[in-house]
Amino acid sequence: MITFADDLICMEKKGFYIETYGCQMNFSDSEIIASVLKNNFFEFEPDINKADLILLNTCSIRDNAEQKVFNRLKHLKFLKKKNNGLIIGLLGCMAERLKEELFAEGVVDLVAGPDSYRELPQLIASIQGGNKAFNVMLSAEETYADINPVRINTNGISAFISIMRGCQNFCSYCVVPFTRGKERSREPETIMAEAKKLFSEGFKEITLLGQNVNSYTYNNIGFPKLMAMVAEINPALRIRFATSHPKDLSDDLIAVIAAYPNICKAIHLPLQSGSDTMLKLMNRKYTRDYYLSRVEAIYKAIPDCAISTDIIAGFCSETEQDHQDTLSAMREAKIDYAFMFKYSQREGTKAAETLTDDVPDDVKTQRLNEIIALQQELSLASNKKDLGKVFEVLVEGTSKRSSRQLTGRTSQNKVVVFTDSEHTTGDYVQVRITDCTSGTLKGEVVV
Ligand code: SAH
Ligand code: SF4
Ligand code: F3S
Repeated sequence: MITFADDLICMEKKGFYIETYGCQMNFSDSEIIASVLKNNFFEFEPDINKADLILLNTCSIRDNAEQKVFNRLKHLKFLKKKNNGLIIGLLGCMAERLKEELFAEGVVDLVAGPDSYRELPQLIASIQGGNKAFNVMLSAEETYADINPVRINTNGISAFISIMRGCQNFCSYCVVPFTRGKERSREPETIMAEAKKLFSEGFKEITLLGQNVNSYTYNNIGFPKLMAMVAEINPALRIRFATSHPKDLSDDLIAVIAAYPNICKAIHLPLQSGSDTMLKLMNRKYTRDYYLSRVEAIYKAIPDCAISTDIIAGFCSETEQDHQDTLSAMREAKIDYAFMFKYSQREGTKAAETLTDDVPDDVKTQRLNEIIALQQELSLASNKKDLGKVFEVLVEGTSKRSSRQLTGRTSQNKVVVFTDSEHTTGDYVQVRITDCTSGTLKGEVVV
């Protein structure tokens, strides 16, 4: 069989540059893309000005995520004017959502959705003399299980492993089920092989990724079992996971997190809203009380667990009371860290079609600011509780301010900065917390 690679055998390697927007899944996908290209006569080029191929791996979650990319395309137009042969590709969720429309920008040569990355070499090869290339087919099976990601986003210590793709929860506000397609889980053997390989290469922390990672299931292996299998690879390998949906946060999963010291004591559990009226309109499939009871179950089994969340301010018809319910739920759950957003209506979603985006923008902003202020207070309170305690910190690098200052994370995913000339990136260090802000812990090495 003549493959594309054979056709190119006499050609010089082309340099590709890739820029990633959006969630961790997209960062993980960029590593799969890098692998596909590297195996097909491209090489990673970190300098955008030297690249023959520029790829933007994009996000559609909110309007401002898309605007960022449209602005970037304006800049790329200049690069293209300077270099006629330059190929510009738009990948990821915007490719899937906006499809051919993206060619209208006049700068894009290639549009490829999240399930078509294996085809990239062929698509790129078909771009000649003004031809455009396009593939936005979604798949019910693709998990890229056999592709060995090229770690382009790494510090050599932490890595992502995608264990499932897609989402079919259809939260009414969310574009992901449309851009990522059906939920599908990856064969556990391939996940284990990837995790073992990373550990043997010196990686110390892996994050298992999926849009709803805790609904992972393959034959008879569910997420708690998979977590236990990965945790048993080696006690010196830290395991994290993201993102979990509250409806699938089982007692079994909590028990596995509690049982393995190397499974990090940090759970990202998006709340979205503390009002039952909003949760129902959002199609989140749980109530405020249910969420809070899951949080209680976590704290009961894992008293030192950190809980982080996502909050949307100003969803359709949200009243001041609904907003207050969100604030009180955040307090009750003692949220350690949060990602907070203003509601952004996405075309084609149930909310866009059946509800009205009727909270004025200034009210959304005000509510968001209140949510952010409360979270700062909660994060500070959470950090203050750590004062005087000793944590095992995995060193990720030197601090931006000084090379004698190391920075790393606790199992609870909190950033710690401390002075130390003995240790280096990848070491586990016992650190006593001596000071904190709402965003960072400061400490000293325990000798
Ligand atoms: N799969 C994850 C979240 C994926 S998107 C989960 O269900 O928890 C990350 C976050 O973006 C969501 O949790 C939500 O808070 C936010 N988000 C999603 N759609 C949004 C929209 N239309 N407007 C504002 N925020 C949104
Ligand atoms: Fe979006 Fe809901 Fe799926 Fe998360 S679970 S990706 S918020 S539809
Ligand atoms: Fe964005 Fe797509 Fe992730 S919409 S958040 S890049 S799944």
